Amino acid sequence: MKTYQNYAMTDAETRQALADACKQVETNLPLYTYQCQNHSSVNGIYPGCANNQWTCGFWPGEIWLAYEATVDEKFKTAALIQVDSFADRIARKVEVDHHDMGFLYSPTCVAAWKLVGSEKGKNAAIAAADQLLTRYQPSGKFLQAWGTMDDPGNYRYIIDCMLNVPLLYWAAQVTGSDHYREIAAAHTATTLANSFRPDGSTYHTFFMNPDGTPKGGRTCQGYKDDSFWARGQAWGVYGSAIGYTYTHDEKFLDVFRKALAFYLSRLPEDLIPCWDMLFAPESGEPRDSSSAAIVACGLLEAAKYVDEAEAAQWRTLARQMLASLTANYAVKPGTLGSGQLLHGTYSKKSPYNTCTPEGVDECTSWGDYFYMEALTRLTKDWEMYW
Ligand code: GLY
Repeated sequence: MKTYQNYAMTDAETRQALADACKQVETNLPLYTYQCQNHSSVNGIYPGCANNQWTCGFWPGEIWLAYEATVDEKFKTAALIQVDSFADRIARKVEVDHHDMGFLYSPTCVAAWKLVGSEKGKNAAIAAADQLLTRYQPSGKFLQAWGTMDDPGNYRYIIDCMLNVPLLYWAAQVTGSDHYREIAAAHTATTLANSFRPDGSTYHTFFMNPDGTPKGGRTCQGYKDDSFWARGQAWGVYGSAIGYTYTHDEKFLDVFRKALAFYLSRLPEDLIPCWDMLFAPESGEPRDSSSAAIVACGLLEAAKYVDEAEAAQWRTLARQMLASLTANYAVKPGTLGSGQLLHGTYSKKSPYNTCTPEGVDECTSWGDYFYMEALTRLTKDWEMYW
């Protein structure tokens, strides 16, 4: 496996990068304690927003990571204020008719339960898992991503859901109810069967037929249906690592290795992909730094479960990706309203995709969160929020 000797990071540099990221969270606390952070920055600065986007969980996740790193009570206080907001959101069912319950409730409420034993967090996260179960389509065995459940135009799931499913595995553990685990396993089996192409690349979205048979892969946020949307690939990589964590089923590691190999085969020299891996940097297309942060987390999670030679390779790769992010993509702390990582891409319009253009070459809230998660993983044996 290729390694990238230009990028290296000592333990001291890793701790410094995490300290810088915590400082940035501290700088932004006054702005986003009683409101949420928009999904992506606008000209480098995040607008505030109500708790009604699929991305609102990432900023509170950063606050929890800052609390873990510093044990400073101000972070805990602010994170628990966000937990109140998330408990209210699921109780009132505000914008929860979609599958993104894991992205919303794992880094907020599951984290609150794991870190400080918050019963409110635990109950809200279980309610969110129950909400996710309502997205299940028994014919086809998948969690429908978007839209109403009776809309044939929305009869599909997406690769991103690999990071929502862990909420179900977690709910099975804390409630003792196997139903969550069964739905998680059924959805994941459908994803592994259809969403990973033979070469290890991934479809962003996948339509099913009403009779439950697979229909075909289509993109929404990638360049085109048969291209290689970088973040979808990253969700596939990290999601299969977490799938192994919860099931210890070897097929997840097989998928992880294939998806990782494809991702690495398309990486430019600085290890940060363009938003669609169809493109090389010479194309002038923007990068998606968040994909690199997500893949680094996947590498560090999967490395726990393989022999030392393979684990060492994966840890080295993750460290090199983080070294590149820290050197050339990280925001310098102290910029009010900015995030952690520059050069992320949420949704870039192409002639062939169906997305709404948003957040092109900006900070993204999940890029910021996964950058901090990956740095945290390098500094200690971290109990994941997922
Ligand atoms: N659709 C979720 C993402 O942008 O990754």
